[in-house]
Amino acid sequence: MVKLYRCIICGDAYIGENPPANCPFCGAHIEYIKEAKDAVVNFDVELSARDKANAQHALVVEVSNATFYACAADKTDDPEGKILFKALGKIEAEHASVWKKILKLKSVPQGNETCHSQNVENLKDSHARETRAIDFYRKSAAEADSSRIKQIFEALVDIETDHLHLSEERLK
Ligand SMILES: [Fe+2]
Ligand SMILES: [Fe+2]
Repeated sequence: MVKLYRCIICGDAYIGENPPANCPFCGAHIEYIKEAKDAVVNFDVELSARDKANAQHALVVEVSNATFYACAADKTDDPEGKILFKALGKIEAEHASVWKKILKLKSVPQGNETCHSQNVENLKDSHARETRAIDFYRKSAAEADSSRIKQIFEALVDIETDHLHLSEERLK
């Protein structure tokens, strides 16, 4: 029997017999995926000045990374790399959308990033981007005033660490 599941990080729903190991939309790990009837998903958060500033920076990071991955999906010279970067681009765009909702913006700002034609250069760029994101999200989770903001930053640390492993395996 299929059930209706919902990711409490991005709020998107998934229909399946079992909860997915990772949210297909934002990549959140299984502990954030609940049966929809039990899922508490809150985007209406009271933001302290510090949480707001960190959320605003996180939005900039996610837009930049989503735009970079979309570029790499188009330009990279390796067939598997194209598929990888397309998948990563969708996930980072979903993260940008989470911050858009938290910041109560009408739309996600447009990004403008360049990328490389050589796959290995895109993998190195990905690795640097994910490393920077993880460091910033870890710090933002530690200093978060809101428990919801802390929860989102902690989930993102796990997700971006998965992305780091994807580039590391391919750069070996
Ligand atoms: Fe999700
Ligand atoms: Fe992300």
